[in-house]
Amino acid sequence: MFPKITLYRLIVLFLLPFPCVVSSTTHACSLRSAVGDKKVNNLTMMMESAPDPLRMNDGSEVTSVTVWRTQRRKELLDLFTREMYGQSPGRPRKMTFHVFDIDSNALGGLATRKQITISFTGEPTGPHMDLLIYTPNRVKGPVPTILGLNFWGNHAIHSDPGIRISSRWMESGDNNPYVDLSGVKDHRATEACRGINASQWPVERILARGYAVATAYRGDLDPDTADGYKDSVRALYPQLHARGDNFSTIAAWAWGLSRAMDYLTTDRRIAAKHVAVFGWSRLGKAALWAGATDPRFAMVISNESGAGGAKLFRRGVGENIRRLNTVFPHWYCSNFRKYNDLDTTLPFDQHMMLALIAPRPLYIASAAQDTGADPEGEFEAARAVEPVYRLFGVTGLPTETWPPVNHSVQGGIGYHVRSGRHDVTDFDWTQYLAFADTHLAPRRPQPRSSEP
Ligand code: GCU
Repeated sequence: MFPKITLYRLIVLFLLPFPCVVSSTTHACSLRSAVGDKKVNNLTMMMESAPDPLRMNDGSEVTSVTVWRTQRRKELLDLFTREMYGQSPGRPRKMTFHVFDIDSNALGGLATRKQITISFTGEPTGPHMDLLIYTPNRVKGPVPTILGLNFWGNHAIHSDPGIRISSRWMESGDNNPYVDLSGVKDHRATEACRGINASQWPVERILARGYAVATAYRGDLDPDTADGYKDSVRALYPQLHARGDNFSTIAAWAWGLSRAMDYLTTDRRIAAKHVAVFGWSRLGKAALWAGATDPRFAMVISNESGAGGAKLFRRGVGENIRRLNTVFPHWYCSNFRKYNDLDTTLPFDQHMMLALIAPRPLYIASAAQDTGADPEGEFEAARAVEPVYRLFGVTGLPTETWPPVNHSVQGGIGYHVRSGRHDVTDFDWTQYLAFADTHLAPRRPQPRSSEP
């Protein structure tokens, strides 16, 4: 799984935290003692070498929110744009929204379903993304919203027969551990694909809590293959292609989330200042970059985004930069390749990208068996961004130590490591909805008149 592994990394991988997170139902760190103080000290030293997000490029310290806002934030945004994610274009001038479906009696009357084609060039048959939105009927007025890209098409997140089946290229295969892709024929979805990904998208539950759900298919933006450029929205911007800081796939997905946000700001049922951006795995990486680059997102939820997402590289645990750049060469810009094998000595790290989200609420979630994502490294990144939240007078994480498995800690930053594999589960959503209740303050759904 991790090619080109060094002897040192093998030692770290096998002796350090993985065994404890995989097996523990008690304290995630309880097995640390078993691996010896020396190794733990190495990790501590690496953490101590983590660059300070509050230190300007010229070495001076950021001591005020004003300096952060006007200078340091820009330095970091430039750094990550240039070295890792690449340039992104802004909102396309000719973009149009076409609402092609409204059903005010969707899901047995629980919701209003809307589907919108967002045409990036304004041409009906040109490059576009279909946005699916459910708003809860039992709450009047604008509602807070959870927006996220999905992996296998809008039709896959719910069995609702009114959802348009995507006609885009789809991945197929018999062995997908998350969804049954047997209904995909010749890389196209069929009726049999409806609802195959529903377990990760508890739409009714989210609606019942007073939130809208909005989603679009990642494949509408980028096919997610190494040679997928020509079928990606990236091809709309050839001037951003042949360069070290090229528009990358992760950036294209993040850009698409911002375009969805452009639409949401026009919809009267959406409380546009209360939109959380959510993503799992590679789409969690994209959600973080969307939150980092677009301050309109009021909250960011990263579900097991791992390497190139929330985890710190410098611990040298889990998936590394070389693997990201080799297996998924399209995800980040070409400049990022110069950091292959430099994980532990990087001049920057992911906590500095997370800092771009501060002081907005940020939830980072890990899964114990998701060792490639280095759960503890995700926690350490959340901890390392804390000083930036404090600069704003916000308590980030209300703990200094890695919490027990299946225990959520929530301040301005939320975190949990749940038991089990890489996935999105009900446990994850329980925490996200509680965190959103604190920070996005939905109005409670009205009881039906027949209810007490
Ligand atoms: C691979 C990849 C991860 C990524 C994951 C996913 O496992 O190595 O970085 O998060 O795919 O997106 O499912």
